[in-house]
Amino acid sequence: MKSPIPDYLQSVVENVRSNDGGAPASYIDVLAKADTSKLAVALAMVDGHIYSAGDDKIEFSIQSISKAFVYAIAIEDAGLPAVLKKIGMEPSGDAFNHLSLQKGTNRPFNPMINAGAIAAHSLVVAPDATLEQRTERILDALSRLAGRQLQVDEKVFEAEMKDANRNMGIGYMLKAAGIISCDPAVAVRGYIRQCAITVNVKDLALMASVLCNGGVHPVSGEKLMPPESARQVLSVMATCGMYDGAGEWLATVGFSAKSGVAGAIMGALPGQVGIAAFSPKLDEHGNSVRGVDICRKLSADMGLHLM
Ligand code: DON
Repeated sequence: MKSPIPDYLQSVVENVRSNDGGAPASYIDVLAKADTSKLAVALAMVDGHIYSAGDDKIEFSIQSISKAFVYAIAIEDAGLPAVLKKIGMEPSGDAFNHLSLQKGTNRPFNPMINAGAIAAHSLVVAPDATLEQRTERILDALSRLAGRQLQVDEKVFEAEMKDANRNMGIGYMLKAAGIISCDPAVAVRGYIRQCAITVNVKDLALMASVLCNGGVHPVSGEKLMPPESARQVLSVMATCGMYDGAGEWLATVGFSAKSGVAGAIMGALPGQVGIAAFSPKLDEHGNSVRGVDICRKLSADMGLHLM
């Protein structure tokens, strides 16, 4: 029997197309010049079925969505207790690139803001690892999750490196606070490289579905992370994944999610489905305007709200 899901997803895409609000990220040329008409959605069920509609072959940089997976890798490489010693798990209430640490512990608030993400990156492989070792480890892990070899977009990487002062500032703040022990410039360069890895919506939905499936890849059956890591990542995504918009997001959409500045949103409903939406124009929180619309509609139509 033909599945009705692809036709449904096509109707979701058409339903949100008229929302022309927001603007693409403007801090680097490559993102500012993105084709804002692009729009795509994908669902990856935990039984291995993948459905998509719209511009589902368009690749974009993963950006902040990488933070969720690099957190899982840091937990695997350093162990959860060591990670929790260096990175908190509370929403910060500040912008993603804010220079702030928790009073008392000196830890970044959570791994979804840049400070926490750079700290997590520094724990990948080992504190004294090289940039190349960490990049290879992350690219390999993300490729396994996506089920295909992913690449770094060198144009995005170079552009971000030209204007990395704020992230470098965060790196040196982390070093001064004793949160990272490696050269801050190496950690920041590596973090920026991980953000420049390119994916499409099907990749992202599949990557999310591994989190929803207790760390087991729904297609290959490969065990890619322990269930405890998947749960930890999904929990932090639920409270911190959508930045300042996280509270409203959880109340209205109701599933764990992480957004990236290129215009993607990755969602995850444990035990059921990995979700990805893409469209470059962003709202005031830095979340894709049409991506949020898509997730709202999917949640309402398919009853995806956790509560
Ligand atoms: O750290 C940065 O500036 C970017 N490379 C990633 C930021 C990002 O995706 C923020 N999320 N919406």
